[in-house]
Amino acid sequence: MEQIIISKTIDFVKETLAGAETGHDWFHIERVYKTAKQINNLEKGDTLVVALAALLHDIADSKFNGGDEEIGPQIAGDFLRSLNLETAIIEHVQEIIRNLSFKASLGKITFASKELDIVQDADRLDAIGAIGIARAFTYGGFKNRVLYDPEIKPQQYPDKEAYKNTVAPTINHFYEKLLLLKDLMKTPAGKQMAEERHEFMQIYLQQFYAEWEGIK
Ligand code: ADP
Ligand code: NI
Repeated sequence: MEQIIISKTIDFVKETLAGAETGHDWFHIERVYKTAKQINNLEKGDTLVVALAALLHDIADSKFNGGDEEIGPQIAGDFLRSLNLETAIIEHVQEIIRNLSFKASLGKITFASKELDIVQDADRLDAIGAIGIARAFTYGGFKNRVLYDPEIKPQQYPDKEAYKNTVAPTINHFYEKLLLLKDLMKTPAGKQMAEERHEFMQIYLQQFYAEWEGIK
């Protein structure tokens, strides 16, 4: 039964995200889904909730919907109701989607669950390491941002609006977000997976600056 629900959800997500930008396309979802399952094997959360939340977590991006942050939970809710799932499961999945993003965590935290921690760790793992680097530069290119500008220092954003509207170079994003994620991991399994990806980013940055200065 669970498997049928999951495979219907996979079909729905693939269909909905066809043509989505590369930071949040089906392959991102697939990676997060796999990683979330892997973490859940150790953390023993509710497998159906973890799977559905991982699959639906980026079903609609507020960035492309006039900043409307309820659109994702709403579309996920409509879809899950069409599968006649229990209300408690649907509401749990919606809460996870609502509370998942880095932007949301800069606001007030109103919900907590083991399943949220698991899916959030999986999503954050996809923002670091080799894939995270690729995604950051893709996003920066999409936003027409420069790679690096030694004159523009990384900053701390007072709120999620300021974070969303920044025009800083992409390298700054490493200091403003990517290098902070390791210590924000919630589950022991997630923390461990983050270590290697974190180190890889540090090595990458060293090499980047060395090449920038022409020493390599
Ligand atoms: P979140 O919803 O967690 O805030 P986003 O949807 O903003 O994440 O980010 C999607 C991807 O784009 C991530 O890999 C993230 O690191 C990257 N990204 C977000 N903001 C920036 C930025 N200012 N510069 C470079 N990459 C970014
Ligand atoms: Ni995501």
